Amino acid sequence: MPPVPRPLAAPAADEPPRLTARTLEGLEWVLARELEAIGARDLRVGRRTIEFSCAAGLERETLYRAVLECRTAIRVLEPLGRFQADAPDRLYAAMQAVDWTEQLTTSDTLRVDAAIHDTFLTHSLYAAQVVKDAVVDQLRTPSGRRPDVRLRGATLRLALHLVGNVATIFRDAAGRSLHQRGWRMGEVEAPLSEVLAAGILAIAGWWRPGDDPTACTSGEPLLDPLCGSGTLVIEGATIAAGMAPGLWRARRKAHGFFRFRDCDRGLATRLVEALEARARPPQGDPPSGAFQASDLDPRAVEAARACAAAAGVAARVAIEQRHFEDARPSAPGSLVVTNPPYGERLPVARAGALLRRLGDWLVQRCGGSRAAILAADSPATKHFGLRTSRRVHLMNG
Ligand SMILES: C[S@@+](CC[C@H](N)C(=O)[O-])C[C@H]1O[C@@H](n2cnc3c(N)ncnc32)[C@H](O)[C@@H]1O
Repeated sequence: MPPVPRPLAAPAADEPPRLTARTLEGLEWVLARELEAIGARDLRVGRRTIEFSCAAGLERETLYRAVLECRTAIRVLEPLGRFQADAPDRLYAAMQAVDWTEQLTTSDTLRVDAAIHDTFLTHSLYAAQVVKDAVVDQLRTPSGRRPDVRLRGATLRLALHLVGNVATIFRDAAGRSLHQRGWRMGEVEAPLSEVLAAGILAIAGWWRPGDDPTACTSGEPLLDPLCGSGTLVIEGATIAAGMAPGLWRARRKAHGFFRFRDCDRGLATRLVEALEARARPPQGDPPSGAFQASDLDPRAVEAARACAAAAGVAARVAIEQRHFEDARPSAPGSLVVTNPPYGERLPVARAGALLRRLGDWLVQRCGGSRAAILAADSPATKHFGLRTSRRVHLMNG
């Protein structure tokens, strides 16, 4: 097993900043393999963060492909500059050294996020404010027009990393978090993040990131008997169908890079067309029972069906309302993958009782299959009763 990534060391002010992708804790090595598969090189893997380079001339293509194709990326950041700053006014001056006219016009909108560590500021919101002020002050016209701040759907989303006295400013090529694939419909309590779902399937060995996307799954039938909105099975069905995770948003041009003033639209169109051509339409019928999901709650079933339809995999995924004890894998050699309700929303005693029954059901009804269970770090988990062959620590956020 690869080592558990540690936070990356603070950069030196003269070290050129690199492309950076962010993920959930526990999924760093999955994302590293995905990035290598699209041509990323010289990866530096830290906790929730991967810095990478790419071949000369392929910077934009690699950036766009990371957004469009990496299932376990949450953000993909392109550096705009790195500066030394040891006080708010120095940070402001450093940000004014960037030519923001290349990025924004006064009629555009802006969002700034900041992450700070071991530095002269104690509040990341204040750091973000300093950057925002520097940008809008530079662009403000004599009549007072300037880009407005917008939290959702801003034309340009910036990310400041302020570590010690080194400030790195990035633009976010994804815009909204990439876990939002663009196929989620309806509302259920505690839906699983699509990024985490893809990561769990990779860690379970059902999907091999970095392999040929059209032939990268183990072929095991998938069953989620407590499916909620169906995230695990729907994500699995899209992987098996060769559908890139960024495709749905790309159809609406809803990734950050589409709004960059220097967006290479020809390149973006070519990349998206290639991904569309790779996606196999549902008539390439998989064996029935390849993707099964069920839930006791009819509202969850309704939401899961709506999500499967929006993702274009409704024909591949069977979604039923039933108690998990009435569900069965469609064949031996299946993967049962699920995240049962857990302690924070359920009293420990009830969560424990449910896990005990789930363990019993797996033993009695799922012989010859494997199981991957996302369990909370809760005292209820000890009631599960089955020995695990492998435990992986994951953070959902
Ligand atoms: C944490 S949620 C699963 C979230 C899901 N992975 C998603 O992406 O939306 C747990 C689900 O277990 C379902 N559930 C609870 N008890 C159940 C039972 N006895 N049989 C089937 N489903 C059950 C709940 O209705 C809920 O949708």
